Amino acid sequence: MRLQKYMAKCGVASRRKSEKMIDDGLVSVNEKIVTRQGINVDPDKDVVRVNKKIIKLEENKIYIMLNKPLGYVTTTDDERNRKIIIDLIEGVKERIYPVGRLDMDTSGLILLTNDGNVTNKITHPRNEVIKKYIAIVEGTPNKSELTKFRKGIMIDGKKTSPASIKIVKNYENESILEIEINEGRNRQVRKMCEAINHPIKKLKRVSIGEIDIGGLQFGEWRYLDDEEMKYILSL
Ligand code: URA
Repeated sequence: MRLQKYMAKCGVASRRKSEKMIDDGLVSVNEKIVTRQGINVDPDKDVVRVNKKIIKLEENKIYIMLNKPLGYVTTTDDERNRKIIIDLIEGVKERIYPVGRLDMDTSGLILLTNDGNVTNKITHPRNEVIKKYIAIVEGTPNKSELTKFRKGIMIDGKKTSPASIKIVKNYENESILEIEINEGRNRQVRKMCEAINHPIKKLKRVSIGEIDIGGLQFGEWRYLDDEEMKYILSL
């Protein structure tokens, strides 16, 4: 099996992201770092490590939602010894991975699974899964700024796809916005708000597609229920 496919099946990340991890020198096969794409591995014989940890095909598929508190990173390992979200999930023996990412200074909904297919479905831009955020920003966007945001903004040299933005409440110096995007670019919501001159003070993700954070408290997690699983598997 191709290495990147094996990594995705183990739930590490989508195939595309796995290729990037190979490029970045994070993957070894039988104790040798592999940076060449396209090599084959035998899941029964070869020992594959990502970030120095052995990965394995899991029989038992796990699907979890977590309300990420501020100050945690969503990587599975952190060289700088920052707090990682995996440490919040106690009592699960399977190795699970976050679906996509949230910045250290963003809170809210993040899914974790060992099902690489599901990770792929949720994160692949083709599926256009909508992620909803509540943001507190400086000032209040005016009509033309809102229009600009909705139509798409150049960030990092590429235009964002159409997005939704609503003012929930505005105060003298700040406002609360509801924002929906269907992409997952690096610090995308922050960059979009900066681009219309309303920097983010606080950001929380409240839903991913039909999965809503509901009453989950910061740091709490639970397994997805039947309805949520039905949605996930229908993607
Ligand atoms: N957009 C951001 O800017 N940060 C996040 O964590 C998620 C989306």
